[in-house]
Amino acid sequence: MNDTVPTDVTASDASAEKALVTVENVRMHFRVGSPLAALVGGGASVVKAVDGIDFQLRQGESVGLLGESGCGKTTTGRLLLKLMEPTAGRIGFDNQNLADLSGAALSAFRRKAQLIFQNPFEALNPRFTIARALNEPIANAKVPIGERKELIIRAMELVRLSDPEQYLDRYPHQLSGGQLQRIVMARALILEPSFIVADEPVSMLDVSVRAGVLNVFRDVREKLGLTAIYISHDLALVRYVCQRTIVMYLGRIVEDGPTEEIVREPLHPYTKALVAAVPIPRPDQSHEPLPIGRGAPDARNPPSGCSFRDRCPLAHERCAIEMPAPTRVGERLVHCHIYDE
Ligand SMILES: Nc1ncnc2c1ncn2[C@@H]1O[C@H](COP(=O)(O)OP(=O)(O)OP(=O)(O)O)[C@@H](O)[C@H]1O
Ligand SMILES: [Mg+2]
Repeated sequence: MNDTVPTDVTASDASAEKALVTVENVRMHFRVGSPLAALVGGGASVVKAVDGIDFQLRQGESVGLLGESGCGKTTTGRLLLKLMEPTAGRIGFDNQNLADLSGAALSAFRRKAQLIFQNPFEALNPRFTIARALNEPIANAKVPIGERKELIIRAMELVRLSDPEQYLDRYPHQLSGGQLQRIVMARALILEPSFIVADEPVSMLDVSVRAGVLNVFRDVREKLGLTAIYISHDLALVRYVCQRTIVMYLGRIVEDGPTEEIVREPLHPYTKALVAAVPIPRPDQSHEPLPIGRGAPDARNPPSGCSFRDRCPLAHERCAIEMPAPTRVGERLVHCHIYDE
């Protein structure tokens, strides 16, 4: 670890040129607790779902957002798509501030930035045929009727549904999970977006069809030069689709860098624990498992200083006082005092 160079860099510095998405000190705090709960002594509290994150996505880059349940992955994805407004901070897309978008500029953004839902069974209206489901976004975008069928067929071919016409009059319950997820992808791609957020797109699918769907996702991304965020709690999946990984813990980023480096030599103690827990076959490496226990983190009450310190076997005095700033280690940014002293 001698190549550690403490600096005051932020993740946003990682790739200044051709950034499509820029996230600067973004927070999303939810106020929870009802007046009724307050009556019985349970006052309102604040969930710090996202608590000061910085990163950039370069054009064409595919980045995994990795971390345990509740660490803020979905919230981050929804913020990037302007499905909610951050409590603080700034999100830029193609040199525009998302907060400023309205009218025609907002509609244009909605076409360019698409979400692939986690659960294909819920993403499609069960009473709509596949043709109607795929027609919806292009009708909303006022594509002339005469051009729609060609777009629908092309999108279905893109996600490798062979003989697409056969699906058009069917209903979601008549398709398999893998076929449905391809339809969901086709719908997200039909308006030729430049940015995709895929939130655990295979977690609801049978293991046997996951690889097929992931391959389609990889191919499409490369073919269309898409910038993509792939959200997952599964490092093996992230490794399969993303060159770069951002690891989150309790609403903050703990490590950001090339996926293969993270798998080969995780730096942050939390990443070490995640990597050790994943049975990725690497005969050339053996990771020391880090015992971090099972204490589920509580986003309403994060520890002072480093939010991981109450589970970190390497925590010391400074970790309780000071939140670690990002330190550059090679191509990585790591938020841990081990690397900035
Ligand atoms: N609308 C909301 N109101 C209040 N709390 C919320 C809301 N949305 C999310 N949260 C809380 O914010 C935290 C982060 O949630 P989020 O869904 O972003 O996590 P996640 O990393 O996507 O988890 P999972 O892997 O389970 O999908 C959690 O503690 C969650 O309960
Ligand atoms: Mg989620």
